[in-house]
Amino acid sequence: MVALTTNPAKGLPSVMTDEEFAKFCEFFYRKTGIQYQDGKKYYVERRIVDRIEKTGSESFRDYFTLVRFQADGEELQFLVNAMTVNETYFFREDYQFDALVGSILPAIARTKQKGAPIRIWSVPCSSGEEPYSIAINILEHWDQSDTWDIEIHASDIDSKILGEARAGIYSERSLSRVSDQLRARYFLPKLNGTFQICDELRQSIDFSLVNVVDPLHTKRFRGLDVIFCRNLLIYFDDVGRRETVEMFYETLAPGGFVCLGHSESMSRMSSIFLPRKFKETIVYQKPAE
Ligand SMILES: C[S@@+](CC[C@H](N)C(=O)[O-])C[C@H]1O[C@@H](n2cnc3c(N)ncnc32)[C@H](O)[C@@H]1O
Repeated sequence: MVALTTNPAKGLPSVMTDEEFAKFCEFFYRKTGIQYQDGKKYYVERRIVDRIEKTGSESFRDYFTLVRFQADGEELQFLVNAMTVNETYFFREDYQFDALVGSILPAIARTKQKGAPIRIWSVPCSSGEEPYSIAINILEHWDQSDTWDIEIHASDIDSKILGEARAGIYSERSLSRVSDQLRARYFLPKLNGTFQICDELRQSIDFSLVNVVDPLHTKRFRGLDVIFCRNLLIYFDDVGRRETVEMFYETLAPGGFVCLGHSESMSRMSSIFLPRKFKETIVYQKPAE
């Protein structure tokens, strides 16, 4: 049974003091880059209570010790999976997919050596709708897709959601912007009303567990042409945002592009990228050598 104290601010039972909440947030921030404000205490606490119960810990203190010192980090991964916000859907902010096929890929194709692969990274990919939308858009709308070898890498810090991305099974909520024609071409209907991405597409995307604030995770990504990083930096503070875009700079080939979410602008984070105004939207480019 979890020991409860009363949260004086709300009169609600609480498993952690304000000081413990602050310590926890500092720890979680160091591990993931994700920052929680005081207003998020209830959100954080609900998830911690669930993990305390699932691990059979006696108190927040015991649980926090387990998360910090467990040698294989298994509970930290469960905690991360519980804390992340995985909201996504097919063709979200689709003007960026239009920019990809209408402007970015043609620009890359003009300068890239024939035969060299075009590398795209969707990070964070959550349950996979973003990288699958990228693949479908390229197949449907880029007239040079047959002549280039295109690699799509997709990563997230959440191991559970990556399992869902690999399985590629979606409900109507995710698919509301996918036409019947595209459903017929790229999905298999399942008996329970869900749709599964066809095997060819599922197998064509390289899904991997990556924490963007851990250099050991990101160092294998080099020579990328396009990064989609949408709706992640909103959870980070200015330091985390700057370090993440600096990491992107390292992973991109000269002339490579970054697409951010609509509420995320590079200008406040860094001046190392150049804004590129295409007819569809503004994206950011690493200067060519
Ligand atoms: C709101 S989803 C965005 C998904 C997709 N890019 C989109 O815009 O629809 C945010 C994702 O960021 C992931 N995430 C949070 N912190 C991360 C980190 N440090 N490294 C990698 N992924 C992270 C979460 O697991 C979650 O799946």
